[in-house]
Amino acid sequence: MINFKNIIAQKIAKEVELDAKEIEGFIEVPPNEEMGDYAFPCFKLAKVLKKAPPAIATELKEKITTDENIEKIEIVGGYLNFYINKKVLTKTVLEELDKKQENFGTYNSGDGKTVLVEFSSPNIAKPFHIGHLRTTIIGNSLYKIYKFMGYNSISINHLGDYGTQFGKLIEGYKRWGSEYNIDENPIEELMKIYIRINDLCKEDESVLDACRENFRLLEEGDPYCKNLWEKFRDVSLQEFNRIYDLLGVKFDSIKGEASYANSWGEVVDILEKAGKLTESEGAKIVDLEEQGKGVCMITKSNGSTIYATRDLAAIRYRAKTYDFDKCLYVVAYEQALHFRQIFEVAKYLDIPEKCQKGLEHVQYGMVRLSTGKMSTREGNVVKVEDLLNESIDRVKKVIEEKNADMENKEEEAKKIGIGAVIFNNLCTTIIKDQVFDWDTVLNFNGETGPYIQYIYVRTKSVLEKAGYIPNIDEINVNVLQDKQSLNVIKILYKFGEILEAVVQKNEPSILARYLIDLAGSYSNFYNENKIIDEDKNVQNARVYLSKSVGTVLKTGASLLGIEMPNRM
Ligand code: ARG
Repeated sequence: MINFKNIIAQKIAKEVELDAKEIEGFIEVPPNEEMGDYAFPCFKLAKVLKKAPPAIATELKEKITTDENIEKIEIVGGYLNFYINKKVLTKTVLEELDKKQENFGTYNSGDGKTVLVEFSSPNIAKPFHIGHLRTTIIGNSLYKIYKFMGYNSISINHLGDYGTQFGKLIEGYKRWGSEYNIDENPIEELMKIYIRINDLCKEDESVLDACRENFRLLEEGDPYCKNLWEKFRDVSLQEFNRIYDLLGVKFDSIKGEASYANSWGEVVDILEKAGKLTESEGAKIVDLEEQGKGVCMITKSNGSTIYATRDLAAIRYRAKTYDFDKCLYVVAYEQALHFRQIFEVAKYLDIPEKCQKGLEHVQYGMVRLSTGKMSTREGNVVKVEDLLNESIDRVKKVIEEKNADMENKEEEAKKIGIGAVIFNNLCTTIIKDQVFDWDTVLNFNGETGPYIQYIYVRTKSVLEKAGYIPNIDEINVNVLQDKQSLNVIKILYKFGEILEAVVQKNEPSILARYLIDLAGSYSNFYNENKIIDEDKNVQNARVYLSKSVGTVLKTGASLLGIEMPNRM
């Protein structure tokens, strides 16, 4: 596909002593189309050329020639505005789409570099809460987009399966396990046991001792304790897997914190040898005050490790196993300090510098239900699985009301209901806190998943009505030069840039917003133009454009983790 920005940059670079790549970085898109398609701010050259921007603009305009790609150049203040040839644009976009189909948008710029995307990472025997839903959705989307862009992308679920609470849980289970129906409703039942044993511990110190002993035995590999812990892990995973199945999420690696048990001693040794550990009230810490990052505890006063140590062991493991270029942690912003600390301490570990530099915390904001909080601490817990199923049920109801004899109702309702929740999680900058509100999430006319799916289905029904898909040679680009068609073309052209931006910023919302734009532009096109037309020339072009929009909407949605329905 023709890279207009690059062509313009080359033209400018020829006249001034600057690298075309650098110039390309300066080129902007003007706020409205009357001002051209691209603008070069000449003040960027003022220092080098020792001239005022308007003078530079005048000079450049005289030297730079227009050609079949660049139609017109104009000066506005210190800006040089470029107007590209819209027919060439139309042709290049449609040809590229024809060539690449569902791979339109990728140039494999990832070049096989390895990116680990760690996300979800719930804690076993504890509820999978709404924050875990967010990391799962955001992480899965980043994982898919990196893969699409040619990275060796690997999804990792870092299960929270370690901690002294398992000593308590084992004790509770030992005492009352048979009273609870753990196989049916594992997490809820295990939570009940946990609360009950915790209360007993407060009353009776000897029970607490028994719990501590269980934990010690568990660490030693005692078969009884280990079996129970494995059972807790298995039943929890079964519950998590139901959620992953609903969301269509798959992990390349599910590896719990406990699996690093035999290597965190090495972390302590390395830090000790490097002279980075100091004693503080019996605990061992790395002092990061100088870097403004507080202190990072490595072992507690009783010698046991903490969350951070387990993360450091995981970093070493990942560096050795994957030799990664990037390792993303999709975790709520509340844990920002934790990650700043462990990334700092990771500089002292025996891993390549490339890996040390590739560690990145992708932070996201909290979600609140529009009515009250989605807390897991107090009662008022919203079960994620219930939430997802409720979304599907609400969609089913709408289908029953409006389109009762739709084919494959169940399946389509699932795609729409789940798609709505996914899109809602991705449509605003991820660091922002969010309010979850059913009316917004499921609004078929709003900036929602269902809206994008609805427009996609519309492109499909256009193809059905036409009864054929024209060949690219049958397309006359002159037919697509009206405002609405061109707007669609321009947005299609940007798809690859948008995906690059997502990867640069780890911000899937850029793609979600893009899909809203694309869907909206198609909707305008559809309203203004008759697609099924007596004039075959006109019809071919418009049908082809519809097909192209459908392809990009579908690819884009699938990169967010959303499936497209066939009917709506
Ligand atoms: N299990 C933790 C939680 O639910 C999140 C783990 C995040 N990942 C990590 N490598 N520390 O809060």
